[in-house]
Amino acid sequence: NGPETVSPTGAPTGAPQIVNAQQGEFLTTSAGARLYDTDHSLKAGERGPTLLQDHHLREKIMHFDHERIPERVVHARGYGAHGVFVGYGTATNVCKSAFLGDGVETPVFVRFSTVLGSRGSADTVRDTRGFATKFYTQEGNFDLVGNNIPVFFIQDGIKFPDIIHAGKPHPDREIPQAQSAHDTFWDFVSTHTEATHHVMWNMSDRGIPRSYRTMEGFGVHTFRLVNAEGETALAKFHWKPKLGVHSLVWEEAQMINGIDPDFHRRDLADAIESGAYPQWELGLQIFPDTPRQTFEGIDLLDSTKIVPEELAPVQPVGLLTLNRNTKNFFAETEQVAFHLGNLVPGIDVTDDPLFQSRLFSYLDTQLSRLAGPNFNQIPINRPHVPVNDMLRDGFHQHAVHAGVAPYRPNTLDGGNPFVAKAEDRPFVEVAQPLPKAVKVRQSPASFSDHFTQPRLFWLSLSPVEKEHVVRAFTFELGKCYEQAIKERQLRVLAQVDPVLCAEVARGLGLPVPAVDARPKKVTPSPALSQVGQTWPTD
Ligand code: HEM
Repeated sequence: NGPETVSPTGAPTGAPQIVNAQQGEFLTTSAGARLYDTDHSLKAGERGPTLLQDHHLREKIMHFDHERIPERVVHARGYGAHGVFVGYGTATNVCKSAFLGDGVETPVFVRFSTVLGSRGSADTVRDTRGFATKFYTQEGNFDLVGNNIPVFFIQDGIKFPDIIHAGKPHPDREIPQAQSAHDTFWDFVSTHTEATHHVMWNMSDRGIPRSYRTMEGFGVHTFRLVNAEGETALAKFHWKPKLGVHSLVWEEAQMINGIDPDFHRRDLADAIESGAYPQWELGLQIFPDTPRQTFEGIDLLDSTKIVPEELAPVQPVGLLTLNRNTKNFFAETEQVAFHLGNLVPGIDVTDDPLFQSRLFSYLDTQLSRLAGPNFNQIPINRPHVPVNDMLRDGFHQHAVHAGVAPYRPNTLDGGNPFVAKAEDRPFVEVAQPLPKAVKVRQSPASFSDHFTQPRLFWLSLSPVEKEHVVRAFTFELGKCYEQAIKERQLRVLAQVDPVLCAEVARGLGLPVPAVDARPKKVTPSPALSQVGQTWPTD
């Protein structure tokens, strides 16, 4: 017989094993021996000393001592829930993934998060929110690891450690920037103008969502889709909340942080418990897979750019319903491990340099966060399909692998496991022939336009929303100790919009910088200029 994986519960799928010790007949050690006393240690006489031979005492304290695992290096504070995704069948012409088929039901687990705060930080801080979904599909797990903001701070993952170092608490005082000096964050973004677009969204009401239930979600990157005929298209993923998009105002957010720092997790858990299941529609923006990978002049490999929905409408492809709270936060929400490389047939990566770095990062960090290479065997991460891999051993190996020949080809285990047929291969192996011997570090020229879309965003806001953005910049920049950083960021804002710059400068009590306020190096596509905006002309 071929090698076969037997899960610890004996089940071939990832159905989690619920252990309810509180309902057991007897208290036991972890080895199952019945315990008669868990409240007093074993001592040499009533007044001690305590005996080393008390195995239960040692095991109880040893286990407690190791209860904590490292928090995620980013997105440490999060909250998760289970649900179901039902495909509409509307995507089958562009994507062969089975879970998008008409009426196909797929179990999911979603984890929402803030980015910068530690595990115990407050929910309603101004920050980007993570929106990560694990689809346990019949073709294996698909992880859509997105945010509530459609663009990212940086264009190349090699800058990720830098932006996070700048955003995390100052190394000397370890006081989060949301409460203390903001110098490193604003130092970074004022010297990396590619961050301007993301910062505009952060400073808008999108940075302080009312509820996880009222957030949009975005896959951010462009993905490549493949249909049953092998034809490819490029696409961006969107989650649209059925409850609409709602935010807090700053004063509410500040007060809630003090009164109920768990506001967002309480809101989600209460809603699900009361049967008010939150729902999101999954949608796709589809673009032709052209060699240049642009759409209407917008570089689809630049994660600091959106494609306005007026140019590429979001087409609904399925419905997500969150309908079950977790039973155990640690086992499920803390141990869930998302990874962009968890793809299913029909969905593939693109050459976006941010996407490419992420493919390395998540696996790498989970190797240490979850202590070893077998974290996909943790119940929350287990696929709901049989696993027949040739990976063996390692820390926390739970599977009992039968068979003797975990290699291919073999003549001992009947040749098993067999590989899939060529036509079922998930990915487009050669999307673009690589030019020979060209290694470059610089970014494409199209990545250098950092202001067109921040301006587009600013102009799309209502007067009230604009006022909120001005107040947010004024408040946050007001927390910088270094005057030079505030002045540099004002010069960045001047590139976005002169009114925005002047209002923030007034709020900070600083002079309006004497720079050309019009966007520089801007080459908007003709189509972009029709997106309900008036573009500055020379
Ligand atoms: C975690 C989103 C860019 C590294 C996360 C999580 C989300 C997310 C939602 C939380 C996952 C969870 O709930 O467990 C994004 C988005 C990005 C982005 C939307 C850009 C579009 C990056 C980049 C890197 C990175 C460029 C590194 C090169 C990480 C790491 C974690 C993480 C190390 C912690 C994972 C863990 O410990 O399980 N990210 N991220 N991210 N992200 Fe990203």
